[in-house]
Amino acid sequence: MIKFPEGFYFGSATSATQCEGGTENDGRGKNIWDLWYEEESYKFHGAIGPGITSSFYQNYKEDIQLMKQTGHNSFRTSISWSRLFPQGYGEVNDKAAEFYRSLFLELKEQGIEPFVNLYHFDMPVKLQEMGGWENRKVVDYYKEYAWTCFHLFGDLVKHWFTFNEPIVHVECGYLQCYHYPCKVDPKAAVLVAYHTALASALAVKEYHSMKQGGKIGIVLNLTPAYPRSSHPEDQKAAKIAELFQNKSFLDPAVKGAYDPELVTLIEKHGLLPEAVSEDLEVIRQNTVDFLGVNYYHPFRVCAKASLPNPAAPFTPGYYFDNYDMPGKRMNPYRGWEIYPRGLYDIALNIRDNYGNIEWMVTENGMGVENEGRFKTDGIIQDDYRIDFYKEHLTWLHKGMEEGSHCIGYHVWTFVDCWSWLNAYKNRYGLVELDLETQKRTIKKSGYWYQELLKNNGFES
Ligand code: NOJ
Repeated sequence: MIKFPEGFYFGSATSATQCEGGTENDGRGKNIWDLWYEEESYKFHGAIGPGITSSFYQNYKEDIQLMKQTGHNSFRTSISWSRLFPQGYGEVNDKAAEFYRSLFLELKEQGIEPFVNLYHFDMPVKLQEMGGWENRKVVDYYKEYAWTCFHLFGDLVKHWFTFNEPIVHVECGYLQCYHYPCKVDPKAAVLVAYHTALASALAVKEYHSMKQGGKIGIVLNLTPAYPRSSHPEDQKAAKIAELFQNKSFLDPAVKGAYDPELVTLIEKHGLLPEAVSEDLEVIRQNTVDFLGVNYYHPFRVCAKASLPNPAAPFTPGYYFDNYDMPGKRMNPYRGWEIYPRGLYDIALNIRDNYGNIEWMVTENGMGVENEGRFKTDGIIQDDYRIDFYKEHLTWLHKGMEEGSHCIGYHVWTFVDCWSWLNAYKNRYGLVELDLETQKRTIKKSGYWYQELLKNNGFES
């Protein structure tokens, strides 16, 4: 039997844009995802925009009941910045404040601890028009937004996150064209990364100064980079992948400083932003209280086969190649590698190299395309997902037994949610969503999760 400690946080995660819908309701301002889907050229596979989702904005009470039924003791979502501040700053939208207060209150009343994230890829359009994260002023607006959230909801919310997967908005928005503003601009990418780390530290500073008695952290998608071989060039490639993908945000958030090797690499390309020493001091002094880790798959890397393109440093494959490891186990329904042991490696890395800081798995899950094909007797028979969770939890548990200080595990996700580039193509939920009727039906994995939560563990 794999047993988790008493009080371990079990639940699920989502984000505002991916579940709320109600994009036109009650004065919500637009964010960059509304824009992305309005501009025809960005649409992938004819996907629908975030206006059509599981309508959590309207259905949250029903969903919380279902969470209760499956035994959740915690749940993560995010606040939509442009719902709370339609202009990005200035006047608070009272309707939005009311919504989030009732949501957090309802969760508390049902015995579900809210974990709340401030930024999940969703820059308000008004601020993007000013340059978004490239503009230092937006960092100040974020600080005001963070302060407002603590002020309005801090009596109900005791677990906060400043950002979700910040490396993703850097890479997808400024090195590849997967997020707005869809640039390939290494200088902007470095600046955005730096401003984001600074914004996170400023939010931590605000939160600590308000003495609300809770904790604040950051959610990072840690992706262990495994080298192809012991050849020094492959080892170097893996190290560089680690620097960019993981350490770029992990080190400032937890240690208060950048890895000097990362700084040297960036400097080599003349891309180092003009950091103000007071800002670096803010980063140094305001490290997080705990860490959220999203884990889906690792990287397999090897030395570059050809010379990089000097014009575009840091674009994918600039310093290292992805290695197509023979025999690696793929998710047959979605295309990502499945490597549950990665979670153990992460647990030990945090224990050994990051002061054994308190952390939790804030996302782990399996996407499945065209999942309706697995439905029999009215229920999605997702045994593959149950196996996925069991294996990951087994490795996580081993890491904890060896001393890693993990306090919780949230699956991605509860009710099938909207995804950034392909809407409802890949389903991740424990609960199936019929998009037409909005009907929720618990999948086999949802019932399995219910048993797991009841027993605080499972038969291995
Ligand atoms: C991580 C992101 O936080 C979330 O928004 C996304 O939908 C999942 N990964 C699945 O890809």
